[in-house]
Amino acid sequence: MVRLSTGIPEFDKLIEGGIPQGFFVALTGEPGTGKSIFSESFIAEGLKEGDACIYVTTEESRDSIINQAKQFNWNFEDYLDKKLIIIDALMKEKEDEWSLSELSAEELVNKVIEAKQKLGKPRARLVIDSVSALFLDKPAMSRKISYYLKRVLYKWRFTILATSQYAITTSQAFGFGIEHVADGIIRFRRVVRDGELKRYILIEKMRQTNHDKYVWEIDIKPGKGIVLLGKINERKEDYALPGKINEKIKKANKDEIL
Ligand SMILES: Nc1ncnc2c1ncn2[C@@H]1O[C@H](COP(=O)(O)OP(=O)(O)OP(=O)(O)O)[C@@H](O)[C@H]1O
Ligand SMILES: [Mg+2]
Repeated sequence: MVRLSTGIPEFDKLIEGGIPQGFFVALTGEPGTGKSIFSESFIAEGLKEGDACIYVTTEESRDSIINQAKQFNWNFEDYLDKKLIIIDALMKEKEDEWSLSELSAEELVNKVIEAKQKLGKPRARLVIDSVSALFLDKPAMSRKISYYLKRVLYKWRFTILATSQYAITTSQAFGFGIEHVADGIIRFRRVVRDGELKRYILIEKMRQTNHDKYVWEIDIKPGKGIVLLGKINERKEDYALPGKINEKIKKANKDEIL
């Protein structure tokens, strides 16, 4: 089986060398946990290996992705329109042939296929950041839309990372349908402990892979990207929200429902 490196060697080791080619992997987590930076690392590694790379951005502008990547010494600019196409789906004014003015799964797929045809034959990597944007107004459709993306794009021989947001209050993936459809789930978390922001990563699912099952603390380092600090041998309570806060959230949710 061919596995694609994420550009984070210590992480690759946790999944038997990398993400199996052709997989559709969901990166889920709260805001600011590192999903986009992980995705950029996957693309930077693809560019290094000569893959055709496509990055669909729905929440940040194309420039924002390029500038963020630069901070980790990943030069995206030199590859633009040769090996890399960044599809801007922010839905502002349509600016060029690689921006979308309407965000629907069909529009996105058509644009991605067009981009793949432009980039030619090599092995291809695709990031959809975020896929939740496609079903923000219709969470019940998340499974159907995710399945559609996976089914159509599989034929184009992509290996896909799709980021998906987590609702902070309920700790549930937004439109959780994607988690069933995905071949893999990488869960990002954050918590403030002793007055400090900490981030964690856990491989919750990776089909056909004897993957690591620990929670790892991660850091985002300038010039480097995501680094693994070590696995945590602590109780769930040490990285989850404190019990009291969880209870308050539960109560608030219940009140909302009633
Ligand atoms: N140059 C840098 N050096 C260190 N840390 C950085 C640097 N640039 C960004 N970060 C950290 O990365 C965080 C952003 O990570 P990222 O954009 O990957 O989050 P995300 O999970 O995609 O969030 P969202 O769901 O909001 O898109 C910032 O909030 C900051 O803490
Ligand atoms: Mg992001």
